[in-house]
Amino acid sequence: MKQRPVRGTHDIFGNEILKFNKITQCVRDIADRSSFNELKTPIFEFSSLFSKPLGEQSDVVLKEMYTFEDRNNEFLTLRPEYTTPMIRAAISNNFLNDLPCKLYGFGPMFRRERPQKGRYRQFNQINFEIFGSNDPYSDVELIYLANCILKKLLPDLNLKLNLNTLGKKEELNKYKEKLNKYFNDNKEKLSDESKEKINNNPLRILDSKNENDERISRLAPLITEFLSKESKDHFVEIKNSLTQLEIPFVENANLVRGLDYYCHTVFEFKTDLLGSQDTVLGGGRYDGLISILGGADLPGVGWAAGIERLSLLMQDIKKEVNDIHIAIIDKQYKLNLIQLTNYLNINKFTFYWNYKYNLKKSLSKANEMNAKFIIIIGDETFKKELYSIKDLTTGEQIELSLENIKKFINDKS
Ligand code: HAM
Repeated sequence: MKQRPVRGTHDIFGNEILKFNKITQCVRDIADRSSFNELKTPIFEFSSLFSKPLGEQSDVVLKEMYTFEDRNNEFLTLRPEYTTPMIRAAISNNFLNDLPCKLYGFGPMFRRERPQKGRYRQFNQINFEIFGSNDPYSDVELIYLANCILKKLLPDLNLKLNLNTLGKKEELNKYKEKLNKYFNDNKEKLSDESKEKINNNPLRILDSKNENDERISRLAPLITEFLSKESKDHFVEIKNSLTQLEIPFVENANLVRGLDYYCHTVFEFKTDLLGSQDTVLGGGRYDGLISILGGADLPGVGWAAGIERLSLLMQDIKKEVNDIHIAIIDKQYKLNLIQLTNYLNINKFTFYWNYKYNLKKSLSKANEMNAKFIIIIGDETFKKELYSIKDLTTGEQIELSLENIKKFINDKS
């Protein structure tokens, strides 16, 4: 039987792998300069790590988690996101004794969503988190880093930064009560999907993409009437800092995010180039989450970006050509081949040999691959303990001993 990949998963190769590597390199450079430490956590965790913190009524928990019972009757889940595992790891490894704790990481996440362009069941995220600071500058620093990474990877695109505040948990809860009443009063005009959310998750109706829902949401009460002075000041400081940093943003009162743990600042960088999967990067503040997971009562803030979505938006990357092609015309010269490849490797040249003992085939492969030089190991040169090297740009051909090859190539390059 011909095997096929599981729906919603994909193999990463060719230009996509070049983009993935460029993304991880760019993130590492920027994270290292700002003293974020890299963390890798296991791909599966106990299911209880996710169900309550992400929200028992959230789509992720209700429909999308890959959960299975282990042989010792424990329920495990393939991680659907990275914030809760990072907090779990910070608690397990005592990182929270030294605050603020700044972490970043990459890796695969799993959500059983309906696959489409930019939406997969296994996808990769970049994640940044700061635990232990409620200084608005920690929100700003994270948005600033996100902006730097996006500008570096997508220099020609203007992703739109959407910003909102949800206030403190108690302010948000009062707001939810008011929304619940408002949407109940307008229940008949809402889509079936939104009707189901009125009682358990009225906030999510605000970001519904259904036209009727949008119309009702436009007239819905705003969080601002429930915000304390402290919450308002936190948000104003963030907006002022972003303006000073010349990072443009739009305030979007309907931005609520899909996971339940958020409070205060929430943000998303959006594009209109990916159809309905328009969010490339999203995050916000989650004060209270660390204590729910068994840690001290500490604030936290962070974001995640989808690597596949970034890669879909990036320009193709030109693969570097192999500098040198090797042609060997007979098996008896294999020892010279081994010495040559060892020499080229030590001197950091890229090279290629196609396991064919045939000069003609090697030459045509070298042309096909746009090699700059071909080194031929043949009868004549073998007797003289030399290698014949041809500059494929100029056609110049010369016989050299092994130790002179580097100088010849460097002089020509
Ligand atoms: P999220 O909005 O669920 O947030 O996911 C963040 C990003 O992951 C999305 O903006 C998108 O680029 C990518 N993503 C999500 N689902 C998929 C999918 N099915 N296929 C491809 N890409 C996807 C979180 O996960 C939060 N943990 C972010 C966070 C960190 N908040 C605070 N700290």
